[in-house]
Amino acid sequence: MARFDSVQSIHHARHLLYDKSIVYCRDRPVGTFAALPQPRRDRPDAPPDPDLNYNEVFIRDNVPVMIYFLLDGRADLLRDFLDICLDLQSTDPQTEGIFPSSFYVEPNSQTLVADYGQRAIGRVSSVDASLWWPILAHVYVQRTGDWSWSQQPKVQEGIQRFLRLILHPWFRHAPTLYVPDGAFMIDRPLDVWGAPLEIQTLLYGALLSSVVLIHSDLKEKVIGSTAGSAALTDPFIRQQIWQLRYATALARRLRRYLLQHYWINGKTIQILRRRPTDQYGERVSNEYNIRTETIPHWLQAWLGDQGGYLIGNIRTGRPDFRFFSLGNCLGAIFDVLTFSQQRALFQLVLNNQADLFGEMPLRICHPPLDASDWRNKTGYDSKNRPWCYHNGGHWPCLLWYFVVAVLRHQQTSTTPYYRFGHLHESLWDCLQDAYQVLLKRLPEQKWPEYFDGPTGVWLGQEARLYQTWTFTGLLLVHHFLNKPADATVLDMPGLRSILSIEAQYQDLRWD
Ligand code: GLC
Repeated sequence: MARFDSVQSIHHARHLLYDKSIVYCRDRPVGTFAALPQPRRDRPDAPPDPDLNYNEVFIRDNVPVMIYFLLDGRADLLRDFLDICLDLQSTDPQTEGIFPSSFYVEPNSQTLVADYGQRAIGRVSSVDASLWWPILAHVYVQRTGDWSWSQQPKVQEGIQRFLRLILHPWFRHAPTLYVPDGAFMIDRPLDVWGAPLEIQTLLYGALLSSVVLIHSDLKEKVIGSTAGSAALTDPFIRQQIWQLRYATALARRLRRYLLQHYWINGKTIQILRRRPTDQYGERVSNEYNIRTETIPHWLQAWLGDQGGYLIGNIRTGRPDFRFFSLGNCLGAIFDVLTFSQQRALFQLVLNNQADLFGEMPLRICHPPLDASDWRNKTGYDSKNRPWCYHNGGHWPCLLWYFVVAVLRHQQTSTTPYYRFGHLHESLWDCLQDAYQVLLKRLPEQKWPEYFDGPTGVWLGQEARLYQTWTFTGLLLVHHFLNKPADATVLDMPGLRSILSIEAQYQDLRWD
């Protein structure tokens, strides 16, 4: 493949990010637009008309942006963003603790107005935004060492409010978080209600992050302090300890559950296909009463004999075997997956490169819901027609997650090169080729939000242009390929280190 001069494209992307996309409130940067407001065709000099909510600051769209700022020496922008989101965390009794999907600056009063789903199309509420906040907070302190930020009472109160949303009695026993359709990056109906993978991997990251952030405060007040036992009379501190312990236990159960129910490969599928149904009792092999007929035939060729991945959803009788790119990348990045499972995931991606990369990496999910499923399960959602938008469209903003997953895997690899060198070489070539595609096609096509069709060669039918996470995604891919060591930026503490943190609080008594 011809190599393109990266300098011009990267220069352009940086210009768009730093000079065009940042939103200010009272002269203070508060985040970036989802897409740059475009001049009106009829009156190019007039201020652009608002384009639905694409002129708002979305928490999820700002995740790549803030990580880029952090890596680019602008940790201050990430810290300010975390503070701003914290100020907007809901305190309304019905939604207390949730973070907004998006917000905008009210021009007259210069105040921030948040959307928790009450304005969103279809009234969906973005659960992922709330899960991303503690993850981003952990990324910030881990990278900068600014633990005094996380020790502030307002930050600890925010974490406590967030965890109250998660750690409460519910009508289910499973450790997964149950959400309505469209509660994450896929924010329109696509039959992703229940326990979709992306939410569960984010939950795992959010739990680990929260434990570390709480511990950063408690270790000063309780563990390393002579006034430790006096501190235990404080109800806030007791709640912190209780949440730290509960969050640790939940993270442990969640990982085990995801590996048991979501992870599939050639071997596990054969076991699943031969399970009995309609079993009652505690120790059964088919807990969710899944019938063999729900297991699609395309899996056979897709998995091959070396591939594996986390499926999209587990629901009673109705598992979702679609492959979701972001959930799987996060499963690797947060080490939900073991080292060898990550290898199987990368092998699967390489084997199915035509489906997942095509002419524009990465496809958001595969395969799309086809005609009758599209009608019945999306309610005729025209944006989500088969091979379009969320329903199998290609999103360049996703490539950097895959790059991070691959690079950190390669860096932690202790396996002798001669055994796995071939896989690593193929992955490296695949990333370089994908990077060249982005470098060439994105500026040429004005940084679209997404691409359509089985190969992703068509510009998305309703794609916005100058989409912020598209040009930021290219900047991140460029950054990581040039500085692979930075792929640790999203590293989570391992489950083992979380368990040893938790052990320090096991013997504390206050009754
Ligand atoms: C679309 C996407 C969503 C994104 C938003 C703003 O709604 O589905 O993931 O956050 O646009 O870019």
